[in-house]
Amino acid sequence: MTFKLEPLPYPKSALEPAISARTMDFHYGKHHAGYVDKLNKLVEGTPYATLALEQVIEKAARDPKGRGIFNNAAQVWNHDFFWRSMTAEGGGTPDGKLAQQLEADFGSFGSFAKQFLTQAVGLFGSGWIWLVIDGNALRIVATANAETPMTSQQHALLACDVWEHAYYLDYQNNREAFVHAFVEKLANWEFAADRLEMLGRDHAAETSQQRRRRAR
Ligand code: FE2
Repeated sequence: MTFKLEPLPYPKSALEPAISARTMDFHYGKHHAGYVDKLNKLVEGTPYATLALEQVIEKAARDPKGRGIFNNAAQVWNHDFFWRSMTAEGGGTPDGKLAQQLEADFGSFGSFAKQFLTQAVGLFGSGWIWLVIDGNALRIVATANAETPMTSQQHALLACDVWEHAYYLDYQNNREAFVHAFVEKLANWEFAADRLEMLGRDHAAETSQQRRRRAR
């Protein structure tokens, strides 16, 4: 097996009652695991089999014949990111630098949360809602199906899966109630803040390298 189903960062019942263990059984154990299995079958005997998951996604995104590989690889990456975007004691408002930047870019945390919910409810069909950093600004972006900010200049800080399989057992067709629970009870702001910190450092390092190169 080239690609593995990464372990969940918590037990399947950890996010109850916002997300039931039964949903996790299907979502992680069937859907996520299914993407991993399918990806392994698709890459077998191809040059993709020797690449890291991120490289597979980037290569397949540019490959007209790589659609199936892209969809399954991106869904593996997106789900790994989604599990880490949630925590049992999550939700509420972040603090520190992330809180300041959310306020600066959205006016207030309340306004950010409202926009996150509106975009999630407004996304037609299956997809994802992301908090990303785009240049120096935080933005909320929606991606359809398996699409991921990973292939763009944007860097993900937090993801919410709004495919029906993410919420149907617990909320039926009420996506809004699920996303509300995500923001109120599950969002792992510590994870998002760590990502922001790490990406900020990388960005600063890149900028100073560019400055040094220009100075030569
Ligand atoms: Fe999913």
